[in-house]
Amino acid sequence: MTSTLDIKIEKTKKSKLSEFDINNVPFGKYFTDHMFVAEYANGKWEKAYIVPYGNVPMSYAMSSIHYGQTIFEGMKAYKDDKGGVALFRPLENWERMNKGAVRMAMPEIPEELFMNGLMELIRLDADWVPASESGSLYIRPFLFSTDEAIGVKISDTFKFAIIASPAGKYYSEPIKVLVETDFFRATRGGVGFVKAGGNYGRSLYPTKLAQQKGYQQILWLDSETNQYFEESGTMNVMFVIGDTVMTPAVSDTILDGITRKSVLALAREWGMKVEERKVSVEEVMTAHANGTLKEVFGVGTAATIAQIIGIGYNGKDYELPPVAERKFSNKIDQTLRDIRKGRIEDKFNWMVKVC
Ligand code: COI
Repeated sequence: MTSTLDIKIEKTKKSKLSEFDINNVPFGKYFTDHMFVAEYANGKWEKAYIVPYGNVPMSYAMSSIHYGQTIFEGMKAYKDDKGGVALFRPLENWERMNKGAVRMAMPEIPEELFMNGLMELIRLDADWVPASESGSLYIRPFLFSTDEAIGVKISDTFKFAIIASPAGKYYSEPIKVLVETDFFRATRGGVGFVKAGGNYGRSLYPTKLAQQKGYQQILWLDSETNQYFEESGTMNVMFVIGDTVMTPAVSDTILDGITRKSVLALAREWGMKVEERKVSVEEVMTAHANGTLKEVFGVGTAATIAQIIGIGYNGKDYELPPVAERKFSNKIDQTLRDIRKGRIEDKFNWMVKVC
C-alpha cells in the first residue's frame, strides 16, 4: 500500500518548549509544538498536514464519540547519548494499527503515510525528546471516525493523527495488582487484541475499585474459565518461575505487545527458557508457595518494565521477591535502555534513526 500525499507543514510561531522541564513532567500531560493529521474521505487518504498542536474541530454527532470507532498506538522516540533521536520499532506499531483498523472496519494506513508523517513530526519536534535516563518522547498515533451521523454504521470519513508528549516513568514505583475475578477485559471474538479506545474505557471502573482496595492495577483473567492470566492494566505480564520466563500467549483477547516481543527476543538470545502459553493462576500461586516464583512484571511501551511486588487474590495478599533480587527483569530493563541510548549494539535493528 503506498501513499504519495505531500505533507503540508505549518510551523508554530512560538515554541512552548521553554515553558517545561521536559526531563521532569508527568506522563502524557504536555504536548509538543506540532501534530500530524491525515484525512480520509471519498474512499481514499486525501490530505496530510503538520500544524501547531491544537484541538479537533468536530460535531457533537461525530460518530467515534458515540460508537467508539477509534483505535490508537503507543510508541516512543529516544535521545541517545550523542544527542541523536531514534524511534523504537515503529513499523511494528504501523502493522498492529492496521490489524486493528481491519477489525474495527476502518481504512488501513499506508506505510508511507504513517512513516513519513511520523518522521516529519518527530524531526520537527526533536528538541522535545528528553535526554534523561528514563525519559522518552511518548508518541500517540490514533485513528477515529468523523462522520456526523447518529445511525450506527461504518463511517465514511476518518482522521489519522499523531501527537507526542515528553514522558518519564509511567509507574514511578513498583506496583501491587489485584487478580480480577468479577470483571473481564476481553472476550473471545472481541477486540481485546486491538488498541481500541473501548478496551481502556471498560477497564476504568474495575480499576477504580481495585485502587480503592490499595492496588494500582488489575491482573486480568480469561473470561471463559477464570483460570488463566491475560494482561495487567496497561501492559502485558510476565513471570519468571525457576529459570523459565513465561507469559500468556497472544490471542484475540490479548494485545500483541511490542515490548513483550522485544523482551522475549532478548531472553531467547540469552539462552533462557521461554514459554508463551496459557499461564494459570494456580501454577503461579503454587510457585509462590514453593518459592520458585522469582519475578512478576508488566511490559509495555508506556510502562516499559513495571515491577509487580504484590498480588491480591481471593481476599489474600501475596508478597513477591524484592526487586533488587530480580536478575532477569533488571537486566532486560538495563539492556533495553542501553539499546535505546545507543550504548550497546542494536543487534536486532530495532532503532530507526530520525535525526
Ligand atoms: C502504551 O503502553 O503505549 C499504551 O498504550 C498504554 C496506555 C498508556 C494506554
